[in-house]
Amino acid sequence: MSIFFAMGTPKPYRARISLSIITIIICGLAVVALLYTERISSLSSSSIFSFKTCSRRHAAKKSVKHNRNLRTGALDYAADDRFVFDPEECSLVNGKWVFNETIKPSYSDRSCPYLEMQVSCVKNGRLDLSYQHWEWQPDDCILPRFDPKKALQKLQGKRMMFVGDSLQRGQWESFVCLVESVIPEGQKSMKQGGEHHVFKAKEYNATIEFYWAPFLVESNTDLHIIADPKKRILKVDSVAKHAKHWMGVDILVFNTYVWWTSGLKIKSLWGSFPNGEEGYQELDAPVSFTIGLKTWANWVDSNIDPNKTRVFFTTMSPTHQRSADWGNEKGIKCFNETKPVTKRGHWGTGSDKGMMSTVASVVSRMKVPVTVLNITQLSEYRIDAHSSIYTESGGRLLTDEEKEDPLHYADCIHWCLPGVPDTWNRILYAHLSYEKEPTNINQRKEKEKLRD
Ligand SMILES: *[C@@H]1O[C@H](CO)[C@@H](O)[C@H](O)[C@H]1NC(C)=O
Ligand SMILES: *[C@@H]1O[C@H](CO)[C@@H](O)[C@H](O)[C@H]1NC(C)=O
Ligand SMILES: *[C@@H]1O[C@H](CO)[C@@H](O)[C@H](O)[C@H]1NC(C)=O
Ligand SMILES: *[C@@H]1O[C@H](CO)[C@@H](O)[C@H](O)[C@H]1NC(C)=O
Ligand SMILES: *[C@@H]1O[C@H](CO)[C@@H](O)[C@H](O)[C@H]1NC(C)=O
Repeated sequence: MSIFFAMGTPKPYRARISLSIITIIICGLAVVALLYTERISSLSSSSIFSFKTCSRRHAAKKSVKHNRNLRTGALDYAADDRFVFDPEECSLVNGKWVFNETIKPSYSDRSCPYLEMQVSCVKNGRLDLSYQHWEWQPDDCILPRFDPKKALQKLQGKRMMFVGDSLQRGQWESFVCLVESVIPEGQKSMKQGGEHHVFKAKEYNATIEFYWAPFLVESNTDLHIIADPKKRILKVDSVAKHAKHWMGVDILVFNTYVWWTSGLKIKSLWGSFPNGEEGYQELDAPVSFTIGLKTWANWVDSNIDPNKTRVFFTTMSPTHQRSADWGNEKGIKCFNETKPVTKRGHWGTGSDKGMMSTVASVVSRMKVPVTVLNITQLSEYRIDAHSSIYTESGGRLLTDEEKEDPLHYADCIHWCLPGVPDTWNRILYAHLSYEKEPTNINQRKEKEKLRD
């Protein structure tokens, strides 16, 4: 496969871009290297490098502090004027990562048996462990700590399913690892196969599942990944084949992003054609993405009973393929980064603001309420927390030789576990814990009355 296959068609852009050919080759190679890290259902991150100009950086707006005293809960909030997490009052987007050596992850890639090689950084030789000791501190409120027993109680008698790509699989693995250590042997099981993986907590009669659908809509590269993005065809108006597996689930957590960013036009198919797959039309990625996302939204609106099922959507997980984005001109992607970016509102070329606003507008028009887990900004800062060279390639660990060659082999898409996806789950947990308390619903009604 030529690197330009993976890159897409750079020709029309050539006149415009000011990047050197070397950068292009570097990025192309990076993409190829990542393609080979694929296993059965892994992310085939064909993209990743966007030629579009950087999104404008804008400083995060600091929200007004609320001097109210809501439910102080079990934690000690003395000398802190932030209030306990309330989804309607607290933006989790604005905040900072705080280093705290005493914070230890509740699991490791040795203690949790369900982590795949792709994310098992310590097991794979990573020695600098400071990335495990940063905590996300929202400006306006206190995020509750993830309490595995309480999380399992929330899931009692329920099915929770993460649906999406390998980033979503990482979030699922993180959630399973966060709870599994409090479940005794014999009371838990894991069934992995094909598109659908099921972790079961027997005494809670709860399942935490993952369903692989990297575009959410159907494509010819779902289970059997086609490495060459030019050969991928998406059925942007069809979701039923996947969605039949989502029926009856109590908590659904979706994502989709990175697979749409190949830099190519997307071969999109809808309706039915006598000549089958030949009837596709090539659409710009944002257009295809919008149609695909609307297909998903229509399915949710027509099939989900919001009284029975909660729906979440995890926003795009940023990629860190271009160290110049954070001012490290001599860097090689995210390789050898050991500290988060501190510049407020930092936003790199790996996160597409246009696609973000598509998510915002589609979700806002849905009948079924969807809670957005807006993890993009907080994850943007974490250039230090990717798998980098402590990962795998084609089902085996990188060799020492490959590790010396981060340009080709460093994975700056996926995240080490334990790591950043634990914070995504802490946010998910905060939402789950919050919504279920009936008093809060009354309080919310009160608040609405006051507002009107
Ligand atoms: C670090 O975390 C510990 C344990 O949660 C907490 O008691 C302590 O206050 C934190 N320190 C800082 C500087 O935030
Ligand atoms: C276990 O949970 C499922 C839903 O996930 C439910 O249908 C079933 O009735 C539950 N069984 C028990 C014994 O609670
Ligand atoms: C959800 O429950 C409310 C109140 O019980 C009811 O009015 C509403 O029709 C229900 N919605 C659906 C989609 O069943
Ligand atoms: C990684 O960064 C450190 C400084 O932070 C530097 O001393 C070291 O040479 C770098 N390693 C490589 C392989 O570039
Ligand atoms: C997520 O947060 C960003 C700010 O970081 C905002 O621009 C965007 O609209 C939010 N996305 C959604 C889907 O709400």
